[in-house]
Amino acid sequence: MTKLHEVVISGVGYHAPDKILTNAELEKIIETSDEWIRERTGIRERRVAPPEHAMSDMSIPAARQALEHAQVDPMELDLVVCATSTPDMLMPNTAAIIAHGIGAARAAAFDIEAACSGFVYGVVVAQQFIATGMYEHVLVVGGDLLSKFLNWEDRGTAVLFGDGAGAAVLSRSETPGLLATTLGADGSGADYITIPVGSRTPPSGEKGLHCVHMKGREVYKWAVDIVPRTILEITERAGLRPQDVEHYILHQANLRIIDSVAKRVGVREDQLIVNVDRMANTSAGTVPIALAEAAEMGKLKTGDRICMVGFGSGLTWASAIVRWTCVNPFPARQAAAMAEAN
Ligand code: ACO
Repeated sequence: MTKLHEVVISGVGYHAPDKILTNAELEKIIETSDEWIRERTGIRERRVAPPEHAMSDMSIPAARQALEHAQVDPMELDLVVCATSTPDMLMPNTAAIIAHGIGAARAAAFDIEAACSGFVYGVVVAQQFIATGMYEHVLVVGGDLLSKFLNWEDRGTAVLFGDGAGAAVLSRSETPGLLATTLGADGSGADYITIPVGSRTPPSGEKGLHCVHMKGREVYKWAVDIVPRTILEITERAGLRPQDVEHYILHQANLRIIDSVAKRVGVREDQLIVNVDRMANTSAGTVPIALAEAAEMGKLKTGDRICMVGFGSGLTWASAIVRWTCVNPFPARQAAAMAEAN
């Protein structure tokens, strides 16, 4: 059998819209309270994209930053993968729009719809193309613009979500980066988290069909069962114990889920990277945004192992343990790119 290539994350980036919506501001538009939201979810505030923005407008600055961090030219990209449930349009795919926007004219492009697991699914997909030798550099973007898909009268969902996108460049390498991965899906829970509009229920203008619907308690119970099992499975595959992994980036849906999972598998608080308090649930954006923020803050040291776990609608889940190998400094936010994005 031909030897497979090693795959590393060579650069990361993110984009969070400037506008911050605090719990106090939400209190003015729906019947809720800062106290309820913080106690049940850990969320203090979320970012909201401007009305004229679509998923690609958040993705392009995130992608540019990841390319700069990786010191990879857009023309070196072989493939762009975009993980999102909120594409610019149902057709074409958003990845092609992003590829054009960053000048990746050589790259193939497609989207992945795996909701909150989408970015980690994308990392595993990118790994296959690189490991087999077909491609050398793949950009994976994960993000969602859910503020346009929320029923702002439904306090059960409106308080939970935010907008944002993150990106990572994956590259062929001599040294191992991706140490282990898992993917999973269970369509028996397909009705737990939905945006109903689609080929079964075409757009009719009926209120609410294009909004997030969620069975919150069922999702909670499922998450605190599947995520610990996933962590035990992937750490064993990597020949590690949960307490050996330096950092955990779990999908940032809810602080109570993160804490409960950590307790069940014996992960310490200092191993957890958390930003749900500031960013809320950006669906496919949570993992890459938290990863890029951690790089920006200098939390990731060469050789550190990071366990990323995505879980959400589908139901889907995905995990990856990555050895941090990026040596390039994290790029300063470019004023021009930010101005262009806003
Ligand atoms: N403000 C104030 N009160 C509220 C709010 C709110 N925003 N939302 C619900 N309530 C009320 C309910 O009406 C209910 O009142 P009642 O007792 O008078 O009927 C009470 O609070 C309890 O409601 P529950 O829904 O039972 O509250 P719960 O403790 O289950 O918390 C939550 C709700 C936070 C949604 C929880 O179920 C949860 O975290 N679920 C997981 C959701 C999740 O993680 N989703 C994302 C994963 S998938 C993805 O990312 C796409």
